[in-house]
This record gives sequence, structure tokens and C-alpha cells, in this order.
Amino acid sequence: MNYPETVKVVEVGPRDGLQNEKTALDTEAKLHLISQLADAGLKTIESGSFVSPKWVPQMAGSEEVFEAINSRLQPIYPNTIFSALTPNDFGMARAIECGVKEVAVFAAASESFSQKNINCSIKESLERFVPVMKKAYSSKIPVRGYVSCVLGCPYEGSIDPRQVAIVTQELLDMGCYEVSLGDTIGIGTPASTSTLLTSLLSSIPASKLAMHMHDTYGQALANILISLQMGISVFDSAVAGLGGCPYAKGASGNVATEDLIYMLDGLAIEHGVEMQKLLQASTAISLKLNRNNGSKVSYAYSST
Ligand code: HMG
Ligand code: MG
Repeated sequence: MNYPETVKVVEVGPRDGLQNEKTALDTEAKLHLISQLADAGLKTIESGSFVSPKWVPQMAGSEEVFEAINSRLQPIYPNTIFSALTPNDFGMARAIECGVKEVAVFAAASESFSQKNINCSIKESLERFVPVMKKAYSSKIPVRGYVSCVLGCPYEGSIDPRQVAIVTQELLDMGCYEVSLGDTIGIGTPASTSTLLTSLLSSIPASKLAMHMHDTYGQALANILISLQMGISVFDSAVAGLGGCPYAKGASGNVATEDLIYMLDGLAIEHGVEMQKLLQASTAISLKLNRNNGSKVSYAYSST
């Protein structure tokens, strides 16, 4: 079986995770988590979100988080990318104002999810990204894209891979350097992941795609394994399996970073993350949030 020699892990716990935790953390607590993750060797950390604080209160105050990142963390971790979500021009202006160096825009492959998540159609969302891309281009800020509901939608059920391909291609055409495919409700299986990727890879190179697998049905690692076998080498994950999605009821967090790292170690795939430091971050944030640790690997290590 062919596997990539190295994999890029995009840590989304401080954004995708914390946006859906009941306990909203203050800036210092967020910064502590982000610094522990950077110290563990994670090189891309999605650290906040410039969305409406009325819609996602947990992400309010992302300005303060990025100001602290720039003054306190970036000098210690000069090669780490601390990125943020931006849904529209206003979000992008907020991100630029506080010195964010990489952003992500997010669309969906499902009309109903797009309406629930960002209050507009897929077409309108792509139109909203045009000024975001313009600002990013003039400020030399790389933009990542997300497509949600690639393997199923909480409102519409199954999603045609051709619809995923259309939205993914639109995001690439408007200048996203990579598109992360979101199994927002973690409903996919290795079979549906394989069908989706077979369809996408007929027109889009694997190097332009990442996988963002929520673990609701316990399929995330299996889906990642299939994706690795099909040539994908960028994976999103959340320390301690934090989070879910505020607009996808019942969705659990992303695959836990520790579980992903453990699997990559088993496959002898390079990732650059130190497990022991990651485990410390995982334990600390679970205690802080007063929640069960969502990582099987963390649980296994803590019981031995
Ligand atoms: P809207 O209500 O349609 O926006 O929300 P609007 O343009 O009509 O503005 C309404 C109010 O929001 C105004 O304020 C604006 O200023 C304000 P008011 O006059 O009422 O006081 N506003 C903003 N405030 C701060 N920052 C902004 C901003 N934009 C407008 N950027 C909007 C549209 C997109 C803002 C809203 O729907 C929203 O914030 N949604 C949040 C969605 C979200 O964060 N979802 C979770 C992240 S996506 C995800 O988790 C999926 C992913 O992980 C992949 C996967 O798993 O599939 C990425
Ligand atoms: Mg997500």
C-alpha cells in the first residue's frame, strides 16, 4: 500500500473545538491551549474565528487572542501558522486589523446547511468570499477553503459528490490554496469517502485537498486511512476530540489529534508532533472544560 512519507496535521481544536464547547474560555485560557499545541510541534493551528459573536459567542474576542498570539507566541514559534475563520468582508477586515497571517473561508455542499450556518445560499456565500479574497490578495494572506457536508447533511441527507466537486473547484478558482473537505456530522464511512475522493480526484489534484473528519459515528480514522491510501496528505484534527458543530445537532468533534498521531506513528508517517506534550495539552484542556477527554489514546495513556 502506498502512503505519503509525511503528513501535515492542521490543529483545529482552538476553533472548531472551542466554538462548540458549553464553557466559553477567556483569552488567557485559549492562549494557554494554543501555546501548548505549538509547543507540541503543531505547525498550523486554527486559533479563532471572526464570525458574528451573536451566532458563535465562544469565538467572541478572537481579536484579543490574535493580538496575544502575535506579541507572545509568534516570536517563540516563528514557523507556526496561527489561522482564523472569516465568513465575509467584515470578518476579513477584523482579521487583518489584528494581524492574522492566514485565514479560511467556509462554504457548504448543502443548501440547507449553508442557510443554517451562514444565513445565505451557497452561491451567495461564494459571492461574499470575493471581497475576502481581494483583501487577502492585497495583504498577501493565504486563504484556505472549507466545504461542509461533503459526506452528508443533517438536513438533506446524502450529498452528490458532483456538488462537492463544484464548490471545491469554485473555491480553488477564486484563489484558495487548498480545500478541506468537511464531514461535518461524521456520517461518512470508508466506502463513501472512497466514492467521494474517486469522484473529486478525477478533476482535482490530491495536493489541493485536505480532510476534516468529525468523529460522530467513530469512522474518522478509518476515513482518514482510506484518504491516505488515495493520496491525501493534509488532515484536520482537534486535541482531545474537542467540539462539534453548532449548526449540526449531535455532531461530535473532529478526530482527536492524539488518535491521528498514534495512527500515523503506526504507519511510520512523519508528522512532527510530540505525543507526550500533546497528551499534556489534551489533559489540561479537558480538565479546564470539565469534560471527558474525547481521545481514546489519551484515555489509554492515562490508564497505564
Ligand atoms: P447575518 O446575520 O446574515 O449577517 O450573519 P448580516 O451581514 O446580515 O449582519 C448581521 C449582524 O451581524 C450585523 O450586526 C453585522 O455587523 C454582524 P448588527 O448590525 O445586527 O449589530 N456581522 C458580523 N459581526 C462580526 N463579525 C462578522 C460579521 N458579519 C456580520 N464577520 C454571518 C452572517 C456569516 C456573520 C453569521 O451567519 C455567522 O457569523 N455565522 C457563524 C457561522 C459559524 O461560525 N459556524 C461555525 C463555523 S463553520 C464549521 O464549523 C464547519 C467547518 O468546521 C467544516 C466542517 O466541519 O464541515 C469549517
Ligand atoms: Mg468542523
